[in-house]
Amino acid sequence: MARFDSRVVRSLWIVAVLAGAAGVAGMGVVRATQVPTTLEDFFVPGTQPVEEGEIFDTLLTSDECAGCHQPGDPEIAIFTPWEGSLMAHAARDPLFWAATAVANQDAADAGDLCIRCHIPMGWIGGRSTPTDGSRITEADRDGISCNFCHRMVDPDYKPGVSPAADQQILADLSSNGLLPSSPGNGSYVLDPQDRRRGPFDVVGDLGFNPHPVETLESPFHSTSEFCATCHDVSNPVYTKQEDGTYALDTLDAAHPTSDKHDMFPVERTYSEWANSAFADGGVDMGGRFGGNKALVSTCQDCHMPDTTARGCSFGSIRDDLPSHEMSGAATWVLQAILNLDEFGVIDPDAIEAGIARSISMLQRAATVELSQTGCYLNVRVINETGHKLPTGYPEGRRIWVNVQLLTEEGLPVAEYGHYDAGSADLTLNTKIYEAHLGVDEDIAAATGVPEGVGFHFALNNVLYKDNRIPPRGFTQAGFAAAGAAPVGADYADQQYWDDSQFFIPPGVTTASVTLFYQASSKEYITFLRDENVTNDAGQVLYNQWVATGKSPPVPMASEALAVTDHPGGDYDGSGSVDLADYAAFPACMYGPNVPVAGACAAFDCDDDGDVDVDDYGTFQLAVQFTP
Ligand code: HEC
Ligand code: HEC
Ligand code: HEC
Ligand code: HEC
Ligand code: HEC
Repeated sequence: MARFDSRVVRSLWIVAVLAGAAGVAGMGVVRATQVPTTLEDFFVPGTQPVEEGEIFDTLLTSDECAGCHQPGDPEIAIFTPWEGSLMAHAARDPLFWAATAVANQDAADAGDLCIRCHIPMGWIGGRSTPTDGSRITEADRDGISCNFCHRMVDPDYKPGVSPAADQQILADLSSNGLLPSSPGNGSYVLDPQDRRRGPFDVVGDLGFNPHPVETLESPFHSTSEFCATCHDVSNPVYTKQEDGTYALDTLDAAHPTSDKHDMFPVERTYSEWANSAFADGGVDMGGRFGGNKALVSTCQDCHMPDTTARGCSFGSIRDDLPSHEMSGAATWVLQAILNLDEFGVIDPDAIEAGIARSISMLQRAATVELSQTGCYLNVRVINETGHKLPTGYPEGRRIWVNVQLLTEEGLPVAEYGHYDAGSADLTLNTKIYEAHLGVDEDIAAATGVPEGVGFHFALNNVLYKDNRIPPRGFTQAGFAAAGAAPVGADYADQQYWDDSQFFIPPGVTTASVTLFYQASSKEYITFLRDENVTNDAGQVLYNQWVATGKSPPVPMASEALAVTDHPGGDYDGSGSVDLADYAAFPACMYGPNVPVAGACAAFDCDDDGDVDVDDYGTFQLAVQFTP
């Protein structure tokens, strides 16, 4: 198709898709429009799907590796940990399928992009169309598999370091204009032959090649750039404008630059890391991460920690064996994946161990520090990870601060961030770390999706909020350039923590604080169910969400503090903050830097020696919180 001015194209091409939800009755609101994108719009460079008759060795499924990289043997830290990771089940994840159905509804063929990263064997095999995944095979469900990762080629050839075979592979791509310029969006380069690449000189160490095919030493596999291939996600249907907004680019055509920095940023885990102190020589985390290593730098250091183990049933024990844990924060979803495994292919013990590892990761991800100033509790949350906390997939994910304020007898006086496990509702009177994406006015007008915050992955073109805590080494400039700048939150350069203040009403002696992680909010899960007019993926997901406890929040860190009782606005000492106190406030409001005197000190909530407008706000809170 010829290149039109994108604005004209947009208004011409937004067509009505008949509200043809026939057959899927009672599934909520049916929107009328869809962006008529095509496969071309989701083009990403790198190795392309095989065409019929083309020579490309079939990718083997992971059971072909099980014989030697044995499952079930605790000495071999490869197969079983991988089997308990979310990546092994990326093609089975019901949350993925539910989100893909809505993506396809919102932007035609968007599912091709999703399948590319989540079901790479199906994508390479040319089975990603139709993009609803209906041609995905049982073998493709092997997800991010052994053979797939270990056939990945470094797109940036390094003479003397990269395997010599890479040169030809890259030259072939380059001559077809397919060489990726920056890692991301699943722009993987795959070796057309099954040559097994890994970090060690296995052939030299063993004195023979253990595989019937070539085994190659690949330093690429020990770098974060390897993971970057899939852990920076951008929407290629949008192009960044000079004013910083994102507008639809020409439809039915590849992104004009194919550069992720010009596309709408969805996930930036790699870029967050690349702009952190971890990328700049590493950080001594005191053994919190890294297994046998003190200094941690790469993704692998934390997510595939060096352990003393074997990689195979034969071969030597190594003290730098990359344990294939690959755990992040997945808990209920792993359980849901197991519940949906009708053929019993997944080892339940591997899943159980995987869930336990995610919980352990979450418990190492943050430190909480408490202090008191006047009638305020200060809660500092320190990010101990190598990227934002939380990072990655933004929709429905959140971390919040729960504060319980108790009397001497342990009775609750007030609570911030109350979560109701039955209804899965969170009381929003607290600090929540999260990113909110949504659509702008133009996209709203074109599609019928309401303007503002929403969960339409394929349509979102605005970051409305991102107060996720940056990692060590954060800089405003670095993050802004990577499309990962905080939105609606102020983080100074080098700040990898966040402080929040909570008002303490009178009568409180203990503050008990817990940081909670929730992978999927009720709002997101119900959205995926109600918005789906295509298939039952949203309902399947919803049922699993209910059956597994509605994404139970995982406690990450807890601290308690003995609190000094502060009158907190109780001017007349009546035991409560009420209208009589309220009447006295104006007379006590001296203004900044005028020393506070006598009973008026009760109003000096921030303990700065005067009573001023800052205290007035707190005073109003005090009236609200005390009977
Ligand atoms: C016949 C047994 C056997 C089978 C089957 C097998 N491997 Fe291996 N593999 C080994 C041995 C032995 C090593 C060396 C382990 C060591 O030295 O730590 C190894 C090492 C590797 C390495 C590391 C290479 C390096 O240079 O660091 C990779 C990658 C690998 N195998 C991938 C695979 C994949 C993928 C499969 C399935 C498609 C597979 N292997 C199947 C025996 C096997
Ligand atoms: C081929 C693409 C691809 C590559 C390469 C890749 N990942 Fe992933 N990764 C994914 C996808 C897709 C998911 C999400 C799976 C899902 O939920 O369906 C994921 C999920 C994860 C998770 C989240 C698990 C959780 O429990 O929340 C971690 C951690 C992770 N990957 C780490 C890594 C690391 C470390 C590397 C590099 C060694 C890497 N990934 C390389 C595609 C990839
Ligand atoms: C560039 C690779 C890439 C592309 C393209 C991609 N994803 Fe993902 N996706 C990931 C990675 C990596 C993660 C894991 C991040 C994390 O856990 O924070 C993930 C996580 C998810 C999750 C969360 C899964 C869970 O269990 O928590 C959903 C849902 C999802 N993706 C849906 C989609 C949909 C729908 C599309 C297409 C519109 C898509 N993805 C396109 C790489 C990709
Ligand atoms: C210093 C250790 C460290 C490094 C380095 C690190 N991570 Fe993580 N990562 C963690 C911890 C701890 C968690 C669990 C907390 C969380 O979910 O944010 C995590 C979570 C994740 C998740 C799950 C996201 C979520 O919030 O559910 C993904 C995906 C991920 N990491 C990928 C990566 C990738 C890719 C890299 C390299 C570019 C990397 N990590 C580097 C420690 C690290
Ligand atoms: C997400 C990509 C990914 C997947 C999936 C994956 N690996 Fe790896 N594997 C790696 C990376 C990266 C390294 C090197 C890590 C490092 O150097 O820190 C590695 C290292 C290895 C090694 C080297 C250890 C040794 O002793 O030689 C072996 C063997 C191996 N993988 C086999 C497997 C097998 C078998 C599977 C499937 C059960 C598998 N891998 C799945 C990315 C992956």
